[in-house]
Formats: sequence, C-alpha cells, structure tokens
Amino acid sequence: MSSAISSREYLQRRSFIELDARTRAKSLFDSRTDRELAGPFDRIESPWLPLQGVTPQADDGCIVMRGTIGGRQAVVIAFDGAFQGGGIGEVSGAKLTSALDLACRDSQEGKPTSAVLLLETGGVRLQEANLGLAAVAEIISSIIALRQYAPVISVIAGPIGCFGGMSLAAGVSSYIVMTPEGRLGLNGPEVIEEESGVEEFDASDRSLIWSIYGGQQRYNQGLVDVLVDDDANQMIETVRDLIAQGIPEVHRSQQVDLYRSRITALDTSTQWDPAVVLWSAASLARPTGRDQRPTDDKKEHHQ
Ligand code: COA
Repeated sequence: MSSAISSREYLQRRSFIELDARTRAKSLFDSRTDRELAGPFDRIESPWLPLQGVTPQADDGCIVMRGTIGGRQAVVIAFDGAFQGGGIGEVSGAKLTSALDLACRDSQEGKPTSAVLLLETGGVRLQEANLGLAAVAEIISSIIALRQYAPVISVIAGPIGCFGGMSLAAGVSSYIVMTPEGRLGLNGPEVIEEESGVEEFDASDRSLIWSIYGGQQRYNQGLVDVLVDDDANQMIETVRDLIAQGIPEVHRSQQVDLYRSRITALDTSTQWDPAVVLWSAASLARPTGRDQRPTDDKKEHHQ
C-alpha cells in the first residue's frame, strides 16, 4: 500500500465497484437531480432471451439516468455486469443509442449534454449475436456524433471489465477512466483460450489476465486517460472534472498514426513480460498531451 494515505483512510473509502449499476449511476449526479428513463417499470425487456430459456430482466441490464453533474447536463448509462455479463442485446443497445442521440440533439439545440458510460460488459450478448453486433455499430456512430458537442466518458471499474465490441465503443469516447481492477480488451480471455488453446492463453490465470488487460497496464500503455482507485468519491470527482474539462483537442481514435507507430515498434518475436511493457510504455508520451497520472496526494494507486 502507498504511504500517501493511512490504513484507516484506505479502509474508510467507499468502494465504487461494490455498488450495483443503478447505484453507481445515481452516485455521479448532483443531489436530487437524477431521474431514470425507460426504467424497470416500463418493462422494456429482451424478447429473444425467453425463446432460449433465459429469464429476461425488466431493464435489460441497462440503466439510463438524466440529471446534472457539477451543474452541467448529463446522461449516465450503466450496464449491469450481473445480468448476462453486461452483454449488449437489441434492447439494451437501443436504450444506449437513444440516450446518446437525445443528448446529441439537446447539445445541438444549445444545451450541451455529456454522456457517461459505466461499462461492465462482455461485449455483444452471445444470445442475440447479430442484433448485438448491429447495436454496437449504432452505439459507435452515436458516440462519434455526440463527442463533437459534449464529452463522452467511458468508465471501466470492474469486476467484469469491458470487452468485445464495447471496447471499440470505449475507444472512440472522449475519455476513458479505469480502476486498477478494471479490464479492457477486444477478445476476452475465454474467447482466446477457446479459439487458440490454453497454451496460448490460460483464461483461469488471473494474474496473466490483469497483467495484459488490467487498468494499470492499460493506463501505462496510454490507452486510458485517468486511473483512479476503487473509491466512489474519487470516481465522482474525476467524472465531474472531465465533464468540466469539455471536449479534448484531439480524440484518441483520431490519432491513428501515433498508435500505429507504437504497434510497429513492438517486437512480437518474443512473449513480452508485462513488467517490461509497463516500463517501456511509461516512457511514451501521453496521447492527448494531458498527463492525468494520479498524484501522490490524490489518486495514487495502492500497490
Ligand atoms: N454474452 C452473454 N453472456 C456473457 C458475455 C456475453 N458477451 N460475457 C460474459 N457473459 C456471462 C458468462 O457466460 C457468465 O455467465 P454465468 O455466470 O451464467 O456463467 C457471466 O457473464 C460472467 O462471466 P465469467 O466468464 O464467468 O466471468 P469472468 O470474470 O471470469 O470473465 C469476461 C468475464 C467478460 C472476461 C469473460 O466472460 C470473457 O472473456 N467473455 C468474452 C468476452 C468477449 O470476447 N466478447 C466478445 C463478444 S463481441
């Protein structure tokens, strides 16, 4: 543990990861400004899951809330990792896309409305494969439309992480915030093991998983803007700061040459030790030019 804060302060922190999706979303808003849209009592559920013997959920695992954060208009969309691994289906995808499109419309009409995506998702919901894939395409397109007017912030807290098509959605957002416990990757460990064999990737090897997909690693690779502890207050403060900061000068997904040069520079002839990747990536310039590495007194990760 870092000496920056005492053990007592460490233990008194309120975990963000331990909050359920609805409480996470609610926690970000200014007091009593939040209201849920298309909530569970509207019973907009997946029509496809019962056909496969799966009990649907009344909000389809996607919570949409509207209100103000730091006095600014915002919509928060949270995925419930406890329901189908937070997988994106037709209904949850449509809820997210509609929320982004309404925020975009309001922004165009002079009421800038930021979006915060609380991503806890294994990607496309396997039981709704093609519909989920179509939803991801729409989500990405809606994020790119909105980010011209107001920041879109992806938060990957854990424990599921953010995989599959939704990692692409995170990639096009204005900012990515992670905790060290979060995980971010295109192909999840289970998929790599199934496709390429356990010799290629052992999906039961937790330390291997975090050394490749984990928040600390992703931050050091320059793929994440802010790394925060699993602390609800730090998360609220970080989201508020990024909304106040507004749209970045250049979005990460527009820096194709920078990222291509990094991939080209990688020596893939040997298996990289994660510790070396950490060291090597830390020496690279931050992509947005904003080094948001946590400071000792504020957001130091406790190792
Ligand atoms: N669609 C439907 N269900 C999914 C899912 C998806 N995309 N991703 C995860 N789940 C489910 C799992 O089947 C499991 O369900 P169960 O509790 O009924 O068994 C539950 O979510 C939790 O997943 P599990 O694998 O047990 O947890 P984990 O923490 O070990 O790993 C992931 C979580 C997301 C890393 C792992 O499930 C994974 O690698 N998924 C594939 C991710 C991927 O490559 N997606 C590409 C699809 S586009």
